[in-house]
Amino acid sequence: MDVIRVVGGARLAGSVPVEGAKNSALKLMAAALLAPGRTVISNVPRITDIAIMGEVLRRLGCEVTFAAESDPVPASPTVSPVPDSLPVSRASTVTIDVPPMPGCEADYDLVRRLRASICVLGPLLARCGQVRVAHPGGDAIGSRGLDMHVAGLARMGADIANEHGFVIASAPRGLHGATIWLDFPSVGATENLVMAAVLADGVTEIDNAAREPEIVDICTMLNQMGAQIDGAGSATLRIEGVPELRPVRHATIGDRIVGGTWAFAAAMTQGDVTVRGVSSTFLEIALDKVATAGGTVDTTDDGFRVRMDRRPRAVDVVTLPFPGFATDLLPMAIGLASVSEGASLVTENIFDGRFMFVNELVRLGADIKTDGHHAVVRGRERLSGAPVRATDIRAGAGLVIAGLCADGVTEISHVHHIDRGYPNYVADLCSLGVQVERLAAPQEPAYRM
Ligand code: EPU
Repeated sequence: MDVIRVVGGARLAGSVPVEGAKNSALKLMAAALLAPGRTVISNVPRITDIAIMGEVLRRLGCEVTFAAESDPVPASPTVSPVPDSLPVSRASTVTIDVPPMPGCEADYDLVRRLRASICVLGPLLARCGQVRVAHPGGDAIGSRGLDMHVAGLARMGADIANEHGFVIASAPRGLHGATIWLDFPSVGATENLVMAAVLADGVTEIDNAAREPEIVDICTMLNQMGAQIDGAGSATLRIEGVPELRPVRHATIGDRIVGGTWAFAAAMTQGDVTVRGVSSTFLEIALDKVATAGGTVDTTDDGFRVRMDRRPRAVDVVTLPFPGFATDLLPMAIGLASVSEGASLVTENIFDGRFMFVNELVRLGADIKTDGHHAVVRGRERLSGAPVRATDIRAGAGLVIAGLCADGVTEISHVHHIDRGYPNYVADLCSLGVQVERLAAPQEPAYRM
């Protein structure tokens, strides 16, 4: 296991490209299962989660190949004193050859490593009439229920049960259209239900559906495949089932969470960062918070630029489903609050374990008190470098940025979490002019009994 070593007291300056969104690409790959033949998805980030999804699809009988793309993001004028020195292959094009009838079982050994593999449930049930997917359980950010996935599929005619650690579903007479009200606009449930509904008999209406840009991306691809989905990006989706779909080529939208990470990193380090490859419209509330904290935010042709030339002012943040402030940016919001002037109230409404990483930030000297789903953060002028542990993808990325705002050196361990979501994190940070390196972790000492 590697560690990331960060030399603090640094300022980020330059231009950074952002690849396709992890949380879109994973679902686009699952959606390929809906049509036999060759689907090609480009701008897929080169991260561990995508490799695991490739393996999930291989085990279902698909042939999956990854080809390195040259930098897919058009160059834009850089504000950096450091020239863009990008690795040639930041993203992949993935080709998925789906057999006439895919397998229908996803095992725990892969599902436990990639919660998102639950998104094969909907497409496999629609294609094969039966499916057995290991129950992924909760994870470091909280309990992650499946009740809405299960209830929605049941309304569409599936017999569905949780047995011996597996979600087992069958629809011997096929799925049919239904009206489904989601208790909460769950991203995963919306995606699974849409992928089941596109091949169901009749019309499905999903109310209180998730509205994230990744939902719009998958609906766009499904419509290109021949599906009939209306309302993507709104709270009501209307899906008229069709008998079959055809494979397509599709480019993944840019990763708004990676883009947002750079926005907060620029603000926290009083830097100047131009982000390329992700639309600012995906990040309106997050960028508004950065502006309220004292930053200057400009939209560019293919992204945005964030400048901060003062110590940030404290801002309050409340996470909500899109278009609200994204829960995946909560560690960055708490990081910003930790170095801001004044006190911030940060409220998390999506995951019950999202504050778990806060103790690591406290190790860096942050003044944070949590109570239920609220955190009060009193900003400090500087943090103080220390060894810390990444507890999940976003917390890991946030701790690295916090390390840049600390005196001395910060070493972040368990960086495999960061590899799950940030394709070139250390190289990108270096290209923005700061001293960050990845090292093999020191051996743990053996204790005698
Ligand atoms: N929930 C239920 N029952 C369900 C479904 C969800 O109780 O049937 C609850 C969850 O337990 C959670 C909340 O609803 O408390 C939101 O869950 P949602 O289904 O919206 O999230 P998800 O689909 O599991 C995706 C992203 C997450 C992101 C959330 C929210 C992927 C692979 N994951 O998760 O991304 O935080 O939406 O936007 O798309 C990450 O990338 O680091 C990450 C965690």
